[in-house]
Amino acid sequence: MKVFVSRLIPDTGLQLLQQAGLQTTVWTEDRQITQQELIEQAKQHDALLCMGSDKMDAHFLTQCQHLKVIAQFSVGYDNVDVAASTRLGIPFGNTPDVLSDATADVAFLLMLAVSRKAFYMHKRIISGDWGTYRPTLNLGVELKNKTLGIFGLGRIGMELARRCRGAYNMKVIYHNRSHNVQAEQELQAQRVSFEELLAQSDVLSVHVALSPETEGKFNADVFRKMKPSSIFINTARGKIHQEQDLIQALNEGWIWGAGLDVTNPEPMKPDNPLLSMPNAAVLPHIGSATVQARNDMARLAAMNIIAGLHGKRLPHCINP
Ligand code: DGY
Repeated sequence: MKVFVSRLIPDTGLQLLQQAGLQTTVWTEDRQITQQELIEQAKQHDALLCMGSDKMDAHFLTQCQHLKVIAQFSVGYDNVDVAASTRLGIPFGNTPDVLSDATADVAFLLMLAVSRKAFYMHKRIISGDWGTYRPTLNLGVELKNKTLGIFGLGRIGMELARRCRGAYNMKVIYHNRSHNVQAEQELQAQRVSFEELLAQSDVLSVHVALSPETEGKFNADVFRKMKPSSIFINTARGKIHQEQDLIQALNEGWIWGAGLDVTNPEPMKPDNPLLSMPNAAVLPHIGSATVQARNDMARLAAMNIIAGLHGKRLPHCINP
């Protein structure tokens, strides 16, 4: 049996595939494979290990319905037409849980960086603008005893909430469709309406999946309802906030600052105004980029492929 892998993944995954007797071909070119190239490769293979950046739409899935399994190297799967994969009988896997700590760390890092304008201060040193000590300059805000608001309290949001409770005794509020009982018991988290989340959060961190319901959710209207002292964090997907509205919110002081690990599009262009604003911090989608998380993601993706090729239910399957 043959597996196509659309980007080089850590050895932990490749070795598992090899040990299972699978013949593996890896796309090693220094550019994203096009959908047509991926279709051509997939046609010569029995299984596909793909990335969140590959478009797994109905066109792709219909062309590649011979595939016995597709395993994606990410937890998010907004690039996948799940209904089409289910209809065509192609089991589709993802890699949940193993990147929750790493991604929560990045949200925490951004929150702190924005609160102290750290990225901007660093740029000032580089540009020779350290200046002399002035008691009223370079002032940030403190996070102790503040309120953390989580939009979409799941596995990653839970890890961020634990960090914020432990480090800063932050009160945790969240907006979800249903109660997160574990968060309420362990962290005394309170479920609130979306309007209350906006009005009360000192730090508002986004952890929902991208969907028609969440796309563009954070727009001018929403930013205007947040506290002028609040920090907006997005480590989920760039399409959830509207960039021009965010820039206006930051320029006009509707909110204090913003930290982004995700943008729309990715990569962000180097002349994007957010990169030079004092109250913004941007990272290049590194939420899951730790040695541990990427090794574990490779292992889970390989396990999904092996299970699928043996006709078994995938350990982490996104089909109902
Ligand atoms: C994911 O797994 O969905 C993260 O965004 C990393 O790409």
